[in-house]
Amino acid sequence: MRLFRFFCEFAIHITVLGLLSVSAPASEQRAATPVVQGDPARGQRLYQSRCMGCHSLDSNRVGPMHRGVIGREAGDVAGYAYSRALRNSSVVWNDDTLDLWLQDPEGLIEGQRMNFRVKKPQDRSDIISYLKQESQG
Ligand code: HEC
Repeated sequence: MRLFRFFCEFAIHITVLGLLSVSAPASEQRAATPVVQGDPARGQRLYQSRCMGCHSLDSNRVGPMHRGVIGREAGDVAGYAYSRALRNSSVVWNDDTLDLWLQDPEGLIEGQRMNFRVKKPQDRSDIISYLKQESQG
């Protein structure tokens, strides 16, 4: 029985290790999830409460629609009236640029019109992983 439990724990460890690609010693494996690891389910709730006042996945509202945003150039959604700053920017949306954007839109693209920030790194990471998940569909 004890051997069985040991085996299960070992298997879980290996899975977690594989998923996170972390090479820390086993004693540190029970530490909290690293901040960079995004949780799409939590991201969805954050998206609904913070972003959907202005955005949606599939239609342009106050802000442009988001489905497919990963890998897309900034200011590229047809039918949305972007600021000149966003339209002319050559930023491509990926984990890094989205993180910078959500942290400080004006710092990334001067003259843009999104007046909203997400302060906590974990919140940004969760929202971005949700957008990634939805971008695949
Ligand atoms: C108060 C309204 C508002 C809120 C809230 C808001 N946005 Fe925006 N967002 C905008 C506007 C307006 C733009 C277009 C900016 C421009 O044209 O300069 C924009 C643009 C963007 C873009 C660029 C898209 C593209 O096609 O280039 C991304 C990405 C984005 N928002 C993500 C988010 C996320 C994620 C959230 C929630 C954490 C969020 N926004 C919350 C108003 C908002």
